[in-house]
Amino acid sequence: MKIVNRLAVATSLASLCTFSAHGAEGKGRVEVVHYWTSGGEAKSVDVLKQLIEKDGFTWQNSAVAGGGGAAAMTVLKTRAVSGNPPSAAQLKGPDIQEWGNLGLLTSIDDVAKANQWDNRLPQSIAQLMKYDGHYVAVPLNIHRINWLWTNPAVLKQAGVPQAPTTLEELYAAGDKLKAAGFIAIAHGGQPWQDTTVFEGLVLSLLGADGFKKAFIDHDEATFTGPQMTEVFVALRKLKTYMDPNGAGQDWNMETAKVIKGQAGMQIMGDWAKSEWSAAGKQAGIDYECVPFPGSQGLYSYTIDSLAMFKLSSKNDTPGNNAARDDLAKIALEPQFQTVFNQNKGSIPVITGLDMSQFDSCAQASAKDFAAAEKAGTLAPSMAFNMSTSQAVQGAVFDVVSHFMSDKDADPAKAGKQMLASIQAAAQ
Ligand code: BGC
Repeated sequence: MKIVNRLAVATSLASLCTFSAHGAEGKGRVEVVHYWTSGGEAKSVDVLKQLIEKDGFTWQNSAVAGGGGAAAMTVLKTRAVSGNPPSAAQLKGPDIQEWGNLGLLTSIDDVAKANQWDNRLPQSIAQLMKYDGHYVAVPLNIHRINWLWTNPAVLKQAGVPQAPTTLEELYAAGDKLKAAGFIAIAHGGQPWQDTTVFEGLVLSLLGADGFKKAFIDHDEATFTGPQMTEVFVALRKLKTYMDPNGAGQDWNMETAKVIKGQAGMQIMGDWAKSEWSAAGKQAGIDYECVPFPGSQGLYSYTIDSLAMFKLSSKNDTPGNNAARDDLAKIALEPQFQTVFNQNKGSIPVITGLDMSQFDSCAQASAKDFAAAEKAGTLAPSMAFNMSTSQAVQGAVFDVVSHFMSDKDADPAKAGKQMLASIQAAAQ
């Protein structure tokens, strides 16, 4: 389903959503729709709020809870349909182009030019932020997805010598953790979390090329081949290690179980680190980050960006436009890039920033990103909106979550089902 159709669906939800303006207008106001609501995420976005307020503008926080952002997207569509878009919203990759196609985004070329974004951003990322040759969005970070987070003290108590590096070691660690009475893998059974694990397995078993063939090319042989069956067999196996009380659970609640020592591991993008940091825990001491087993050298990623919307005639004032431009300017400044990303768990998106101020996980991430870029093994995440439309992503989510909940589903048929769903959604 294209955005236009989905916009229509969203209108019926309009009455459920309320937004309120906070504070006086002052010099101008910038309203941002986002989904950074966990403790660590809220701390990160607060950095932006403070810098904007320091410049005398009003920050209007329109946070919509729900990891992965599906609920926030529904709210955004509702707002757009009712002719009352926010100044900016957290959007990614191909979605920026879809919203651009609808004529709803506004150019921030002036800010980009004045602040030399073309020199600050890698060319490939700058391209994603442009619609029809004009900057319409600003990127904030690079999040790596293919991570495994561990609590080394828990692993030690269960007799696991080190963080697993292969799928076999992951299963062995899972067995030991379970036998010692721990939750082996903290995991919330929500479609996007299930798909995070699925995506990790695709990367690990099919490599970056297979990943791209699946999620960018929608290649038939990739979905119907024996390796995709292996992916689903492995997914079923991993399910046996997942939190038995994880149904419908938010990702950060599951991270908390690893932090508190109730669980040994979590498979999650590096926003998980924001929870560890907010709890005052140290990378390499209290927790460890290793690439998802079997995916060393590969790097799946997403880029959080704020897309800028054309304001309604009521809100389209010089003050509000100045506030939006201030937001865009701040987002790529070294000070913001450092503090925001230290809190968020991601790495800076601007080139040449001093990484010595970051912890060992972020340093490893930056090093691995550069190596993967060179080797051509960067994989734009499907689960996190970098490689395909939301419609195709939704089709994948459905097949994965049905597979996870149906213990009799045939791993040899799941790939074919996924291909059929993707093809229907892509029409
Ligand atoms: C976003 C992250 C966010 C995570 C959990 C991802 O889609 O890129 O910024 O922390 O979802 O909500």
